[in-house]
Amino acid sequence: MTISQAALGAVTKASFGKMPDGTPVDVYTLTSPGLEVRITNAGARVVSILAKDRDGKMGDVVLGYNSVDGYLAETSKTYFGAIVGRYGNRIRNGQFTIDGHSYQIPPNNNGNALHGGPHGFDDQLWTGTPLPDGVEMSLVSKDGDMGFPGTLTVHVRYTLHGNALHIDYAATTDKTTVVNLTNHAYFNLSGDGSGTILGENLMLNADAYTPVDAGLIPVGGPKPVAGTPFDFRKATAIGARIGDANEQLKIAGGYDHNWVLNGKPGELKLAAKLSDPKSGRVLTVTTTEPGVQFYSGNFLDGTKLGKTGAPYGKNSGLCLETQHYPDSPNQPAFPSTELKPGKTLHSTTVFAFSTEK
Ligand code: GLA
Repeated sequence: MTISQAALGAVTKASFGKMPDGTPVDVYTLTSPGLEVRITNAGARVVSILAKDRDGKMGDVVLGYNSVDGYLAETSKTYFGAIVGRYGNRIRNGQFTIDGHSYQIPPNNNGNALHGGPHGFDDQLWTGTPLPDGVEMSLVSKDGDMGFPGTLTVHVRYTLHGNALHIDYAATTDKTTVVNLTNHAYFNLSGDGSGTILGENLMLNADAYTPVDAGLIPVGGPKPVAGTPFDFRKATAIGARIGDANEQLKIAGGYDHNWVLNGKPGELKLAAKLSDPKSGRVLTVTTTEPGVQFYSGNFLDGTKLGKTGAPYGKNSGLCLETQHYPDSPNQPAFPSTELKPGKTLHSTTVFAFSTEK
């Protein structure tokens, strides 16, 4: 895979293959004493995260492929490790209105627009710029790209701070638009290719979640998690209640919902804590975003072979997509996803790794 490797401080760059038109694709390796993270400019994806287990052994804790070919070959999209946009998660019928103008995103998920439509930011080749402690991925999305108004300029910085991967997002526009950016990494703290995440314990810092209709669009506003299988205020094994006779779990085939995070949007606050009794690895997620989409990998069906050659079966990884709530452009009671010219969207999410006995 490595054709040439140029040293860029703590960051190195190598070949990750080629796009169908022959354009070379890069992979950047970021290293700190406790972490090794690889990021490709194809979809601005996180390809791998090596983190220590309780015995100090490094293991890869995210799902993905060994070269860009694996991502390009997907016939049904997983969005493994990608920055999704311009609008992460769903917009009902792909339609919304801004200042009296109607916009249509081509529907790509049961009549709704998912993750920015059929060719979202995950499909784009971003421009990578190495930083002393990371890499910045930049993209200019043209006015009208996938139906969205305004030229949107996006910068996503991945940087390492000890055992933590910071993701800082910035975006500006030249026309009022809607934006919801997140990272779609699938975590498995026991290790990529090691089986399911059902035995991992999850805590979500949320008193409420947004129940969905059959198309996985929030309906009826936030509801308390208390007394439901959606109550993760105390760390609970993911598999403990995933099979409960619960309408919401049935609709999604597991967890695939937005949790309304406690604390103030815009302030960095605890979102989630995932811990793995097998390896002792712990992932703590903090974010400035108001919500987190916890997706338990329900659509993985074993047809895709990952970095280790093992098939990615149902629940072989989970996503903690820190973001604004789904369908916000059509739900005025939700925190707004509108971005106006002259304003800069800033958002930060931190994935910090540690271990416990
Ligand atoms: C998000 C969605 C899921 C699914 C995955 C990608 O998490 O909420 O329904 O589409 O992305 O497979």
